[in-house]
Amino acid sequence: MIIRSTTKIYFSPTGTTKKVIEAIEEGMGIKHSEVIDLTLPKVRNAAAPIIKTDMVFLGVPVYETGIPKILIPFLKTLKGNGKPIVLVAVYGNISEGTTLNELYSIAQDGNFKVLGAASFIGEHSFSTEETPIAKGRPDNNDLTIAKEFGRNIMCKLQSLVSLHNKTLQLPQGKTPLMAKIVPANSAKFFAKTPIADKNKCSHCGICVRLCPTGAIDKDTLSINSTHCLRCFSCVKGCPKKAREITYRPKLVVSKVLLVKSKVRKEPQLYF
Ligand SMILES: Cc1cc2nc3c(=O)[nH]c(=O)nc-3n(C[C@H](O)[C@H](O)[C@H](O)COP(=O)(O)O)c2cc1C
Repeated sequence: MIIRSTTKIYFSPTGTTKKVIEAIEEGMGIKHSEVIDLTLPKVRNAAAPIIKTDMVFLGVPVYETGIPKILIPFLKTLKGNGKPIVLVAVYGNISEGTTLNELYSIAQDGNFKVLGAASFIGEHSFSTEETPIAKGRPDNNDLTIAKEFGRNIMCKLQSLVSLHNKTLQLPQGKTPLMAKIVPANSAKFFAKTPIADKNKCSHCGICVRLCPTGAIDKDTLSINSTHCLRCFSCVKGCPKKAREITYRPKLVVSKVLLVKSKVRKEPQLYF
């Protein structure tokens, strides 16, 4: 099969998922690519457009061991018409849970042919200077693996005459015990909405534009706690460092995050 063009579909408030998908695509050597960026509500709240390229990448960060819930309505409108798809889950070195399995079901329901899937590690949204979690990831090593994965996917496609009998088996992901115990939307219990420090804030409005749920009031810069995902794109994207992440209770959350992310995890590739 000859693949000349791709569509990258991703949600990536702090940019790690985007980075990984771009590296995989680079490894494939694709020249023509389109993007459906689901990070901001405008694209996400419409039905999926018709995909005109030869293949698709679909990437999400892992939120509470699965696909971020706000993406599900959009993802269910995707139509593959038999096109090949590569699935990517990026997680903060704690647990990828069942995210790849969930993406796989969505791809199958949308009539895509799953050609490959991978989980990668990205700096955890909750990572701070004091509590670094997967800091700096994906690092050079991860990105080299991502490019190599892309090259392998391209080789595989070139060796295929048709996708007709193509099937990919994924191992069943596991939901860790803690994720079963803590209530849904636990991120909201474990971290406060980040308040802008008026002494540092220049009122540039970058945080308002970055927020994936439009939860930041453009005049007061206060955050609607119900709508806030705790993705902390407003913290990480602030040029003045006017907002910071505050855990609650501070010591307990910090300790749990550090213990759970202690062992460095590596990307897992399926193709
Ligand atoms: C609400 C929320 C829940 C998360 N849940 C998990 C999780 O269950 N396991 C994990 O390892 N990382 C988890 N993370 C961390 C993200 O998966 C990780 O930081 C990812 O790299 C973010 O992707 P992005 O940079 O593309 O936004 C969570 C982050 C947020 C904001």
